[in-house]
Amino acid sequence: MNIQWYPGHMTKTRRMMEENLALVDVVIELLDARVPYSSKNPDIDALAKNKYRILLLNKSDLADEEGTKLWASYYESQGFAVILTDALAGKGMKAVTDTAKTLMEEKIKRQRERGRLFVPIRAMICGIPNVGKSTFINKYVGKSTAKTGDKPGVTRGKQWIKVKKDFELLDTPGILWPKFEDETAGLLLAFTGAINDEILDVETLATEFVAFLMRRYPALLTQRYKVTWEEGERADQVLEKIALARGMKTKGSQADTLRCAKVLLDEYRGGKLGRLTLEGPEEIKAREEAAKARLQEKEAKQKERKRQFQKKN
Ligand code: G4P
Repeated sequence: MNIQWYPGHMTKTRRMMEENLALVDVVIELLDARVPYSSKNPDIDALAKNKYRILLLNKSDLADEEGTKLWASYYESQGFAVILTDALAGKGMKAVTDTAKTLMEEKIKRQRERGRLFVPIRAMICGIPNVGKSTFINKYVGKSTAKTGDKPGVTRGKQWIKVKKDFELLDTPGILWPKFEDETAGLLLAFTGAINDEILDVETLATEFVAFLMRRYPALLTQRYKVTWEEGERADQVLEKIALARGMKTKGSQADTLRCAKVLLDEYRGGKLGRLTLEGPEEIKAREEAAKARLQEKEAKQKERKRQFQKKN
């Protein structure tokens, strides 16, 4: 899915999110376990600050197990309930219902004491595009697609899926926007295929990916693609070497780097490079600072443009 986040689109999405949040007790945010920071929406913590929160590290089948453990502890230490899921295979589903019930225990008890005997738990799924929301809902709800109709007090058109007698899920997931100011997030999401390849041409993206592998997983690059490189050698040169090692040549016997770029990204996305986690919690602080600086720079430029415009007119 390729969503262009124009300011108008953003405002509408945000408003819809706020409207839906008002209807639920529990917010279940899906993250991509390969990029658990880059795939986390930057604003949801503020938007949903009075809600019970569950984070799903989805696509955990594609991520490094050790890396996933680190991320689970990191988010747990921030007070989130964290569950590892593989929505495609249906793994981790039961834990979601159980966790939501545990989180709501106190609230349900209080309500019962006040005489409200039936207290259904209402939850919603949200996450950035391509993180697996639809796949999750389909697997999670399974055959019980019994939808409840509109209810008094519920925004018109909203439908609830009864997962259990006392557990209802909003049937449409909340689509969240990604981090815009963090350039690394954009790049890592593009590697995983979550952002349409159109934002960067495929050769540039694959070259960035090779550079990333040279830094983070050099042995993997050498083993799988039979390439080595000297200190100071550039990623585009290594991409050429991979193309030649794979016999990918153009008619003029040059390295066919475009074809190689496509193959490399497809192989990674198809899991052929193994289970890779592309970022670690230790990077967050520096990235947050860089994103903040970028935002400040952008705002300063906007201010300057406005000043120039006012001076002219
Ligand atoms: P969305 O609603 O959040 O936008 O995501 P969606 O469910 O459409 O899932 C996006 C892609 O991710 C799908 O691949 C889906 O099969 C895959 N996916 C979702 N959850 C998991 C998981 O836990 N593990 C793995 N390995 N894959 C998962 P697709 O249909 O092939 O889409 P695409 O590859 O053509 O984009």
